Amino acid sequence: MFCIFESGEKELIQLKNVEKIYQTENGSVHALNDVSLEINEGEIFGIIGYSGAGKSTLIRLINLLEKPTSGTISIGDRQLTDLSDRQLREERRTIGMIFQHFNLLWSRTVAENIAFPLELTKIKKKQKEKRIADLIRMVGLEGKESAYPSQLSGGQKQRVGIARALANNPRVLLCDEATSALDPKTTDSILSLLLEINKSLGLTIVLITHEMSVIQKICSKVAVLDKGKIVEEGAVNDVFAHPKQPITQEFVGAHAANKVKHSGDTLAISDWTRVRIRSVDARLIQRHLSSLFGREHLLVRVLETYAVQDGSAEETIVAIQGPAEEIDSALSGVKSDGLETEVIHAYV
Ligand SMILES: Nc1ncnc2c1ncn2[C@@H]1O[C@H](COP(=O)(O)OP(=O)(O)OP(=O)(O)O)[C@@H](O)[C@H]1O
Ligand SMILES: [Mg+2]
Repeated sequence: MFCIFESGEKELIQLKNVEKIYQTENGSVHALNDVSLEINEGEIFGIIGYSGAGKSTLIRLINLLEKPTSGTISIGDRQLTDLSDRQLREERRTIGMIFQHFNLLWSRTVAENIAFPLELTKIKKKQKEKRIADLIRMVGLEGKESAYPSQLSGGQKQRVGIARALANNPRVLLCDEATSALDPKTTDSILSLLLEINKSLGLTIVLITHEMSVIQKICSKVAVLDKGKIVEEGAVNDVFAHPKQPITQEFVGAHAANKVKHSGDTLAISDWTRVRIRSVDARLIQRHLSSLFGREHLLVRVLETYAVQDGSAEETIVAIQGPAEEIDSALSGVKSDGLETEVIHAYV
């Protein structure tokens, strides 16, 4: 019901039975174990996992910086595992990447950083200057062309990273914890920019994170990686509503708990029932919130409201306090109007 991708989706990236074993002095490390994934063109695909799960390894395989020990990886109709080193280098130009710590060249200005990938191509000087100006405008860094990275905020540095990654018009943008070094507000502005780029350029984005909130804000699909294996996968809304594996439940639960923390609520969380209400119609949620606020025996607080999947639905997390029967009756009223509700945490 909330899925924004219709049939006719075209598959772009495919991993089939991929294994990655690193050989080290202390023995071998089995970083990825029988990983199979399909990512469609134009999709924002999230991969979530704890530290050491194999996320960076996975993204470096898509980026052709690592070769799988076994299994196959293809982008479009090209099987990467079959390409020569020279072909791989060419193919890599169609893939952009951004990083947690930006990886900018500190002795170069913003414009010179963005120019860097263009220097490896045969583009003419005039065209190059125009391309740089376009990219600077696209990421909202007008006026900062001559600044050095040390003179920029974290969010601005990541904007340079994004512009540089897009310089050669890639088909795919890989993001490895691209917002992990940023505060929540800056994270949101970078995620919005990624969403905008995805929409305007039709760029396929693969995003790696350990934060469920990042996944929820912009991804349409998610895969959960645990100790080198994909343990759960699906549309973000489905996985959020019905997380099956304990690790997924942990991610979803931690996400909900964070929301309460961020709301500045000083009351004990256990005294409140937290409920997620979702609808494609934001006004319908508002109407039901007003009626919840109006109920005599209930205390209601809105913890957070946000659009999921680029506006295809809206979600509100509310905390409700009061007699259990009152809460049940209030929620059945909401449900009977076709809104989806989910109790995230019930006070017992
Ligand atoms: N070049 C390497 N040589 C040997 N082992 C490696 C190498 N790169 C990663 N590993 C090992 O592979 C496993 C997965 O590492 P990876 O960096 O992919 O995890 P991650 O999910 O990105 O973690 P984090 O969230 O901390 O970045 C870890 O056990 C790691 O120590
Ligand atoms: Mg990593």
